[in-house]
Amino acid sequence: MLTGKTALVTGGARGIGAAIGRALAAQGAKVMLGDVLEDLAAETAREIGAGAASTRLDVTDDASWEAAVNAAIETHGGFDILVNNAGVEITSLVLRVEAEDIRRMCDVNVVGPLLGMKHAFRAMGPGGAAGQGGAIVNIASVAATIAFPSIAGYSATKSAVDRMTRVAAMEAGKLGLNVRVNCLYPGLAATEMGLKLADDIVRLGLAESVEAAIGDVVAQTPLGRLADIADIADAAVFLASDQARFVTGAGLPVDGGMGM
Ligand SMILES: NC(=O)c1ccc[n+]([C@@H]2O[C@H](COP(=O)([O-])OP(=O)(O)OC[C@H]3O[C@@H](n4cnc5c(N)ncnc54)[C@H](O)[C@@H]3O)[C@@H](O)[C@H]2O)c1
Repeated sequence: MLTGKTALVTGGARGIGAAIGRALAAQGAKVMLGDVLEDLAAETAREIGAGAASTRLDVTDDASWEAAVNAAIETHGGFDILVNNAGVEITSLVLRVEAEDIRRMCDVNVVGPLLGMKHAFRAMGPGGAAGQGGAIVNIASVAATIAFPSIAGYSATKSAVDRMTRVAAMEAGKLGLNVRVNCLYPGLAATEMGLKLADDIVRLGLAESVEAAIGDVVAQTPLGRLADIADIADAAVFLASDQARFVTGAGLPVDGGMGM
């Protein structure tokens, strides 16, 4: 489905990003994993095989984006797919929120993907270094669609991802860039981030145990389980592929119905 396509996945060293890299490669794409965890990203690229490679990328830094996009184009000879997946979640009740933590989440979760879209538009658009058009998939969260206690700041950043996806899709269409922009709203998955959130919920006294915290989420989910990272990766592959050729400015929940 993606043979001949090249993809850059941010936060690709582990978790959902690694699963997306694996799923894109399984469909024939040449994948570049960008992450601040350089060693882990290199190990994950080796595990994926199929020509997957890795590069250092701090999504909060403009120059780092430029270098990573250049590395992707030089290594794989093109740049057709960007998955803006890197993110951080710092749990806090509104009562105790710290400005520094909110700024950190804004930096990684909002500034990061917006810079990524800038560099992708420039590289993928007419006359760009890759120049063949493409698809961008932004990873928002079910947190952008529901009210879940202890993640006000995080939810704000993910709502921002939702909005900037729409504006970017509008601009890309109006400017004739031949780039589609969509986002996913994944439900809770048992990655390092997801499991830490469950721990934090217990620490804040919002659930009696990690099992109870997870049980509460499952109980709010019509399909009756947490998200598997492969569920999210398969949806990202769809939005990145030509199967979604007339889909832009859309947000696709991958949450078992939790946010409906
Ligand atoms: N796990 C969940 O339950 C869940 C649910 C909905 C949405 N999401 C979103 O999915 C994405 C991936 O989450 P995950 O659960 O795999 O998290 P994770 O913490 O397991 O992995 C996140 C990755 O992003 C990288 N990263 C962090 N800051 C970075 C930066 N400045 N530059 C480059 N890379 C950076 C990390 O090094 C790590 O490899 C995030 O955007 C997250 O908000 C996660």
